[in-house]
Amino acid sequence: MSLIELNQITFSYAPEEPPVLRDLSLSVEAGGCLALRGDNGAGKTTLLRVLNGLSFPRSGVYRFDGAAITPAYLKDQTRAKIFHRRVGYLFQNPDVMLFNATAREEIAFGPRQLGLPKAEIEARVRDCMTLFGLEPLAEKAPYHLSGGQKKQLALAAVLALNPEVLVLDEPLAGLDGGTRQRLTALLTELRAAGKTLILATHDDALCDALGAEILTLTPPAPGKT
Ligand SMILES: Nc1ncnc2c1ncn2[C@@H]1O[C@H](COP(=O)(O)OP(=O)(O)OP(=O)(O)O)[C@@H](O)[C@H]1O
Ligand SMILES: [Mg+2]
Repeated sequence: MSLIELNQITFSYAPEEPPVLRDLSLSVEAGGCLALRGDNGAGKTTLLRVLNGLSFPRSGVYRFDGAAITPAYLKDQTRAKIFHRRVGYLFQNPDVMLFNATAREEIAFGPRQLGLPKAEIEARVRDCMTLFGLEPLAEKAPYHLSGGQKKQLALAAVLALNPEVLVLDEPLAGLDGGTRQRLTALLTELRAAGKTLILATHDDALCDALGAEILTLTPPAPGKT
């Protein structure tokens, strides 16, 4: 059995609308890498939301490590906590993830929620700040950062949780060339270290570097429900 399995899932935001995802099946092994491609509106973010348990298919089954991920399953706080600890999610828009007073606090928030010892939290914050060169911004308010800085801070905050699966929605969008190269190298290292990666991206170089399996989504056909 694969770590992640979608079996014939169909998803629509409203019953009267054509499904954004239709009869979609896929599987990703532990340590695998899947890149979602497709035009704007093709359903990449929607699919990543399903994989992260934020949206639920109208029909079909999503299994994570053998468990069907349903509203009832995630209603159990303990199970939800374990699931979200294992699966980290970078939103396409980092603004929805950043709510702490400073960049440093933003990175510390997740590890603190996990109840890790203080020394471990400090080590993770330090490592993630260094990884992204965020030290000069440590005491700045996240909402005062530039778009690209916010994106990197949001990714740093996800990595501080050290999840086994990284679900990343356009991790390189809006970043300059040098930063894209650095993050491509970082994500490649994480993959080599055994992380499972699922990402939506328009970046060919990233897909090549990761050796990602590609799934191209197409936008829903109008009038077909
Ligand atoms: N919350 C929502 N309510 C209703 N419709 C939505 C919602 N979110 C997305 N959609 C619709 O679902 C379709 C797929 O959107 P989605 O955001 O998944 O696309 P995407 O492939 O991520 O696009 P992009 O490349 O622009 O990020 C679009 O037609 C969009 O209008
Ligand atoms: Mg999207």
